[in-house]
Parts: sequence; C-alpha cells; structure tokens
Amino acid sequence: MKIAVLGTGTVGQAIAARLSGLGHDVTLGTRDPQATLARTEPDGMGNPPLSAWAAEHGEVRLATFSDATAGAELVVNATSGSGALPALEQAGADNLAGKVLIDISNPLDFSKGFPPTLFVKDTDSLGEQIQRAFPGARVVKTLNTLNANLMVNPKELGADSSVFVSGDDAAAKTTVIELLQSFGHTDVIDLGDISTARGTEMLLPVWLRLMGALGTSAFNFKIVR
Ligand SMILES: NC(=O)c1ccc[n+]([C@@H]2O[C@H](COP(=O)([O-])OP(=O)(O)OC[C@H]3O[C@@H](n4cnc5c(N)ncnc54)[C@H](OP(=O)(O)O)[C@@H]3O)[C@@H](O)[C@H]2O)c1
Repeated sequence: MKIAVLGTGTVGQAIAARLSGLGHDVTLGTRDPQATLARTEPDGMGNPPLSAWAAEHGEVRLATFSDATAGAELVVNATSGSGALPALEQAGADNLAGKVLIDISNPLDFSKGFPPTLFVKDTDSLGEQIQRAFPGARVVKTLNTLNANLMVNPKELGADSSVFVSGDDAAAKTTVIELLQSFGHTDVIDLGDISTARGTEMLLPVWLRLMGALGTSAFNFKIVR
C-alpha cells in the first residue's frame, strides 16, 4: 500500500521503517524536507537528527506533508499533539478526503515542564478534534498508549499485550486492525466511535507515571478478561 507517515520523530521513524520492511511504499511527511534533513542537532529528547535515520532508510522518501499525503492511500499522523492540526492543515483536507487516517498523536502540553498535562480531555479529545476538522478523513485513533518501538514490535515484550482502536468508520477500523496484526499485535480492542479516544488519550497521565515508576518505557497495558 502507498502510505504517508506524517511526522519525523521517533514514532514517524519507527512506523515508517516497519511499514517499509513489510513491503509498503512509504513517504515520510515533514514541514520542510530540506530544513529537516539539514538539522544536525539531536531533538529535545536526545534522539539523533533525521538525516542519520534517512541515510539508513533510503527506500523511504521524504516530502512535504502535502506531497506525502497527496500520493498516499492511507495516512498516519505521528506529529506532536500541538502540531497535529497545523500539520494536517498543511497535508490538505482534499488530500485526506476518503482516506484512512491513523492518529497516534497525544494532546500533551509540555509548556509547564514534566509531567505534561492534557490540553484536551474529559469531554473532547484530539482524535475528535481531528475528525471534526477533517470530516472527509476516516480517522482511527490507535497506538498512542505505548512506546514507538513497541507500537511496531509488540512481541519484544515476550508476552501478549493490548492496543485499542477508536473511530466512526467500521471499514477503516478493519483496515487498521489488519495493519496492527501485521505488526504483531494479537489483542486489538475496538472501543467504539472516535469519542472513545478520550479514554485512550487520558491513559497518558497513567502511562507517564508508570514510565517514571518502572524506569523504562518498555511496557504496555494488558487487558485481562
Ligand atoms: N514517542 C513515543 O514513544 C510516543 C508514544 C505514543 C504516542 N506518541 C505521540 O506520537 C506523536 C509523535 O511523537 P514523536 O515523539 O515521534 O515526535 P514529536 O516530537 O512529538 O513530533 C514531531 C513531529 O511533529 C511535527 N510538528 C511539530 N510542531 C509542528 C507544527 N507546529 N506544525 C506542523 N508540524 C509540527 C514535526 O514536524 P517537522 O518534521 O517539520 O519538524 C515532526 O514531524 C506525538 O503526538 C506523541 O505524543 C509518542
């Protein structure tokens, strides 16, 4: 499948590499490809600049959010919470129309330091904001409750664990669930319509505190029933 992964951070890189390894035709989306490749400093989390990753993944093209989305059959949003709506605006409503849009972003506000707070919660979610802003896109919220490596390599935990999908379009969720299964996910729980993204986004305060308590991000939720 032709897939656009919007976002050049840890998540975008992990998703793009895994999809490409599975044989998909992947383009990574960014605001300004030249500027992104010219960065030489690690990002705010100490991750190496994209150029190092790109040198090892020549099969993944780098394009503007708009060009990446225009050429794709399916789109993944892996941009920062505050950057998600601006990035998707740049991707273009017309380019998104009719397409499955996997949303991995979390509405985290780091402006007051760590731990971040949620800038939307309880009665709304970033997933819903994206669906409202782009009514033609078929938004499926998923994978926002585990770290980037485990999103695409869940078996590394050595035990089955759970991921969630939220979205209004049943066929879109079926497509996404198949994709998740191709990554190795065995317990994908369909929570219902896109408003259920409130719940998975509101898991983040728990997830962040677990990371602190466990001293690692290599863990995941497992729903035992
Ligand atoms: N890191 C994890 O393990 C993890 C786990 C679960 C969920 N998530 C969520 O996944 C998303 C991606 O996380 P990440 O750590 O990979 O990267 P990130 O640093 O949160 O986001 C980087 C991406 O956001 C874009 N961006 C930032 N501000 C923007 C703006 N104002 N307008 C347009 N685009 C903007 C950047 O564009 P440029 O390429 O142009 O710089 C870049 O592609 C986040 O929402 C995060 O909460 C992350």
